[in-house]
Amino acid sequence: MKEKENRSNKWVKGFSKLSKEQKIDWVTTRYFHSPDSAKKLLENYWNKDSNVQLLHDEFIENAVSNFYLPLGVAPNFIINQQAFTIPMATEESSVLAAAGKSAKFWASRGGFSTKIIGTEKIGQVHFMFNGNTHKIKNFIASIQSVLRSETDAITANMRARGGGITTIELCDKTDAIANYYQLHITFETIDSMGANFINSCLEQFGTTLKQEALRYDAFSDEEKNIEIVMCILSNHVPQCVVRAEVSCPVEQLNDDNELSPQAFCEKFIRAIDIANADIHRAVTHNKGIMNGVDAVVIATGNDFRAVEAGAHAYASSSGSYKSLTHATVENGVFRYWIEIPLALGTVGGITKLHPMVQWSLELLGNPSSKQLMEVAAVAGLAQNFAALRSLITSGIQKGHMKMHLMNILNQFKASQTEKQQLIEYFKNHTVSFSAVENELLKIRS
Ligand code: MEV
Repeated sequence: MKEKENRSNKWVKGFSKLSKEQKIDWVTTRYFHSPDSAKKLLENYWNKDSNVQLLHDEFIENAVSNFYLPLGVAPNFIINQQAFTIPMATEESSVLAAAGKSAKFWASRGGFSTKIIGTEKIGQVHFMFNGNTHKIKNFIASIQSVLRSETDAITANMRARGGGITTIELCDKTDAIANYYQLHITFETIDSMGANFINSCLEQFGTTLKQEALRYDAFSDEEKNIEIVMCILSNHVPQCVVRAEVSCPVEQLNDDNELSPQAFCEKFIRAIDIANADIHRAVTHNKGIMNGVDAVVIATGNDFRAVEAGAHAYASSSGSYKSLTHATVENGVFRYWIEIPLALGTVGGITKLHPMVQWSLELLGNPSSKQLMEVAAVAGLAQNFAALRSLITSGIQKGHMKMHLMNILNQFKASQTEKQQLIEYFKNHTVSFSAVENELLKIRS
C-alpha cells in the first residue's frame, strides 16, 4: 500500500509543460530530505546572467540547473609547426597534467604532425523489399537523380559551401535478414558534424523511395510496397579519419628516469602490443586516449557519445578490439601515431550558441572541422603517451594520486592552510586516502 502511494506520488503527467519553477518544486519536494536546500543548490548553479541561463535552459527539455565540468587549458602543443593551447573539459584530475607533460616532451622533438585521411560521413535508409533483387537494383539506379533532386532544398546551403551528398548505393542485406536492404549514402558536410543535415536528407530519401516505388512499372503490386524501417546517420565513420604522429631518434626518448631510451622504447612498443593482444588492456588503453579526445570534443561543443561509439567500432575493424595507437622503430627512429575516426563540427549544433564553446574555438583560432579533428587526435595521442610513459616506468598511481590529492582534501573539507601544508607534505610521501586522513587528523589535533 505504502509502495503504491509512494509510486503514485512520484508519477507525473505533462511534466515538460510545467514551468521551470514548478518542475523544481515537483522534483525537490518528492525526492529530497530538505527540499529547500536541494532547491538552493540548483539555483546556486544558475548563471547570474539571465540571458545565458535562458540559453542553457533552452538547450534541453526539463532543464533545472547547470552541471559544471572544469574547463582547463593545455599549452605548449606544437602541431604542424604551429603553437596551440588546447581547451579541455574534464572532471578527471590527471588529464590536463598529462597533456601538459606530453606537449612539452614532444615540443622539443619536433612536435606533432597530422594528416586528414578522409571526411566522409554516412547515412542509411533501412528498408524491406519483398521481391526480385535485380529489379530493386535497376529501380535504385533509375531513381538516383530523383533522390538527389528531391533533396535540393535541404542540400542547397551545404552545396554552396562545397559539400552535399556524394554517393547513393544500394546494399543487399538479405543474407542477414530476409527482404532487408539499405540505401547507403555518403556525405561531405564541410565544417559541420552534419547530423541534422544528414538525417533530413535521409528522411526525404525514405519518402522519395516509397513514392517512386509506387510508380515503378516493372514492380509487381507487392514489390511496389516498400517498407521504410528507419532513416538515420551512422556514427561508424571509418572514412572520416585523422592521423596524428610524433617521431624522434630512439636515443631522445625518455630523459627522466632509470630506463635507458632503448629499454623505454622496447617497453613502450610492448605495451601497445599487449593492447593489441588483449581486449581487457585494449579497452583501458583506448579509454586513456579518449580522456584527451573527449575533453576537446566536449569543450568544443561536439557529440562525445558519437565520437566514443565511432572510435571503439574503428578499434574493432580487424574483427578484434585493438589499440588506436601504434608505434614502430625503423632505422633508429621511433614513430608513434594514432588513427581515429572523428566526426566533428565547428559550425552547427551548439557551437555558435554555447559561450564557452565559442571561447574554446577562439582559443584554437576558430578552426575548420578538419583542424579540430587534428587537435582532438593530438590530444588523444598525448594522453596515451603520458599514460604509457607512467605505466611502464613509475606506475600510474604516483601521478594520479598526486593529482587526486586535492579531491581527497576537499572530501575532508580541508581549509586552505591545511591544503597548503599537506600538498607540501605529500611532495615526498605516497598519497592514499588513509594517509591523507591521518596527516589531516595530526594537523587538526
Ligand atoms: C585512466 O583514466 C587512464 C589510464 O588507465 C589509461 C591507460 O591505462 O592507458 C591511465
